[in-house]
Amino acid sequence: MSHNQILKGKKGIIFGALNEASIAWKVAELCHAEGAEFILTNAPVAARVGQTDELAKKLNAPLIYADVTKMEDLENLVDEATKHFNGQLDFVLHSVGMSLNVRKKIPYPEANYEYMHQTMDISAMSFHRLMQTLWKKDAMKEWGSIVGLTYIAAQRTFPDYGEMADAKSLLESFARSFGYHFGKNKKVRVNTISQSPTKTTAGGGVGGFDAFYNYANKMSPLGNASAESCAEYCVSLFSDYTRMVTMQNLFHDGGFSYTGISTDLMDSFRDPAAE
Ligand SMILES: NC(=O)c1ccc[n+]([C@@H]2O[C@H](COP(=O)([O-])OP(=O)(O)OC[C@H]3O[C@@H](n4cnc5c(N)ncnc54)[C@H](O)[C@@H]3O)[C@@H](O)[C@H]2O)c1
Repeated sequence: MSHNQILKGKKGIIFGALNEASIAWKVAELCHAEGAEFILTNAPVAARVGQTDELAKKLNAPLIYADVTKMEDLENLVDEATKHFNGQLDFVLHSVGMSLNVRKKIPYPEANYEYMHQTMDISAMSFHRLMQTLWKKDAMKEWGSIVGLTYIAAQRTFPDYGEMADAKSLLESFARSFGYHFGKNKKVRVNTISQSPTKTTAGGGVGGFDAFYNYANKMSPLGNASAESCAEYCVSLFSDYTRMVTMQNLFHDGGFSYTGISTDLMDSFRDPAAE
């Protein structure tokens, strides 16, 4: 794909690039190729378990650790970012999710509520907390763009996705509710991208991920959307070509969300005796 510097001059913050498989990692690489400047951020624990620092060096981006459950961390991050850029931000990517109930394979009806609380805090409330921080500090430029990543389990049940489904429903709702205020008062857009199953650390934590992945791939007329193509969609939402798109949950899934059944899957259910 050719790079036309579609984001030249744009400044932002990218959350959640843990390792090369992370969706946010691909977004950061493409934003860089398209001319954007950005701060990378991740949870302090990522300094130990991830490679965010390598990406920061490679792309020459400052790295500021912040735990999304801590208001003071987000305030510090936004202050440092606006100081670094000497002004407001054009784009922010929220690419964060974690559930201990899912990771520990605790069945949904037996959810541990301490873990569930943590899931909601990290995976959903953090989006509101981040937007509130950007709002209070008036850190977003007019016609700026805030994007969160989500999954179709917010609309349809996928049993092994557990409480992350509930967290994603809340995340998508926050995009609509906060998106109204950001649009009305600051001319800033807020959207979520509902991405195909993607082989990443968070994705792999979901029970039966391979079956999930293969099923979606067979259902979707275009096949599963890759992390690289998700990065392309993110860039389009950070660009000036999507300035009137806001408060949307945008499916980026090769057509999965609107397919009833595919011929590939039909074939696997055929009973030759009945034909
Ligand atoms: N992989 C998939 O199949 C898939 C599909 C649809 C949507 N998504 C969403 O995409 C986003 C990115 O996930 P990914 O698949 O790239 O996996 P990933 O594991 O690479 O990214 C998740 C990130 O969340 C960060 N994080 C966790 N707790 C945090 C905290 N307290 N503070 C700050 N950061 C924290 C992790 O360090 C990591 O960088 C998530 O919102 C995920 O739910 C993933």
